[in-house]
Amino acid sequence: MPSPLGCYTKLQWFMMRAQHSKSETGTSVKVHDRLYINGQWTAPHSTRVHEIINPATTQVCAVTPLANEADCIQAIDAACEALPKWSQTSTQERSHFITAAADEMQRRADDLADAITMTMGCPRHLCPNLQVLGSIAAFRSYAERAKLMDQVEERNGIHILKEPVGVCTLINPWNYPLSILVGKTAPALAAGCTVIVKPAEQTPLQDFIVAEVFEKIGLPPGVFNLVTGIGPEVGPVLCAHEGVDMVSFTGSTRAGVHISESAAPTIKRVCLELGGKSPLIITEDAELETAVRYGVQDVMMNTGQTCSALTRMLVPESRYEEAVSIAQRVAEENVVGNPLDPTTTMGPLCSEAQKETVVDYIHQGIQEGARLVTGGHHMPPGMTHGAYLPPTIFADVTNQMRIAREEIFGPVLCMIPFKEVDEAVQLANDSVYGLSSAVFAKTTDEALAIARQIRAGQCFVQGAHFTTEAPFGGYKQSGNGREWGDEGLLEYVEVKAVLTH
Ligand code: NAI
Ligand code: MG
Repeated sequence: MPSPLGCYTKLQWFMMRAQHSKSETGTSVKVHDRLYINGQWTAPHSTRVHEIINPATTQVCAVTPLANEADCIQAIDAACEALPKWSQTSTQERSHFITAAADEMQRRADDLADAITMTMGCPRHLCPNLQVLGSIAAFRSYAERAKLMDQVEERNGIHILKEPVGVCTLINPWNYPLSILVGKTAPALAAGCTVIVKPAEQTPLQDFIVAEVFEKIGLPPGVFNLVTGIGPEVGPVLCAHEGVDMVSFTGSTRAGVHISESAAPTIKRVCLELGGKSPLIITEDAELETAVRYGVQDVMMNTGQTCSALTRMLVPESRYEEAVSIAQRVAEENVVGNPLDPTTTMGPLCSEAQKETVVDYIHQGIQEGARLVTGGHHMPPGMTHGAYLPPTIFADVTNQMRIAREEIFGPVLCMIPFKEVDEAVQLANDSVYGLSSAVFAKTTDEALAIARQIRAGQCFVQGAHFTTEAPFGGYKQSGNGREWGDEGLLEYVEVKAVLTH
């Protein structure tokens, strides 16, 4: 751990460099030295800073403060103080703020995409559609949904009201950093909650832009607060403090367990969106080329860093080799490279650390006896540095192998053969996870019959695509609670019964 004095000097050095010069690669370093607390850009108590690495260049691209306990408490206090007034605003008022914020985010769409590409490597030309525009549209959709809060049910003199749960800590990961921030912040604000957000260490920049957006539109102080910090350091404060009523988290199962433990003594509501190992079942008479292409593209999207990725492809034995060769061809269509190059379809992994995790799993798959059809643990041709890996397909995978049981979170697909559809369903459900799933059959009805037997929060039938209109969340160890759609708002609701006689 660097000394505070060392860090302070470093921060000054970064600020000077950002103001007066360029980094080694000729791109400027984005320096943030304030947290957004109580509607003010607030100097942190701690002088420690965090360097954000661009995974394509492996160079420092930004610097943020590292909040400490005092900063977290200041943010929680601000959110607690803002709650009584904000929670009593009309749904029309909150809709107005949400719409104004969505408009301002739209104006900042390029900044948002630049920030995401720089910190996690999503190809810049794909970033608007994959990471930004849908997130803004989804943010806007909660302006309309706010009025769900006004619905009062009446049953024989019992009035059932919806009220905001209160102060919410929102902890986010780095794979879809804006989308996941929106999926928590928009429904929380629509419901009348106040929030403290903590982005992943690797990808904090879009959160600073979102804070600027809220500042610009005049969101009341304390309703939205931003702290940047190291998860295991600030997480326990943000999740245990008695002023916080709810924690919503997306990320690893490991961190989800820690967060639940921190939140348990004060009986907080905890909404977790964790890992997955989602199956795609393809039946014997399905349109094989379409089904396999869909499955491979789903896994390779965002360089395999999607919690709902369909990473286990279950294929009938009778069509297995045909499916493997289609998968290889589709995987090899990808162009791995610099995220700023408009021909790139797959950028680097988010970090060198994430690449190492994935490399370990690829070694593991080879050791376990899976057949490496394409890809592997080497740097893709022509690349010399950066967190790059090629799209990788393993065939002859059994569901007992670690590569079939554990979330890899990289561009790696496991192809598992089966004999009968019943066996495919059994394999699909033989997982500690249950986040997503998909089925391709000859007809939609046949696919739906299979879909009903899969224990997962979503099932994509005959090539359907993700939408933020549909509730999203996990069975089993993939988490609890739901995000998106009306259900995403209801997570932030307390039910109050008012009895009049
Ligand atoms: P992580 O779960 O450590 O990080 C996600 C967020 O949790 C970050 O904001 C981090 O600061 C925070 N965090 C970490 N420990 C915490 C704690 N004790 N209390 C409160 N907050 C804490 O994930 P990591 O290490 O970056 O990735 C490891 C694996 O997690 C990946 O390989 C992948 O399998 C999974 N993952 C799943 C995601 C999903 O969308 N469900 C997203 C990111 C990672
Ligand atoms: Mg971590």
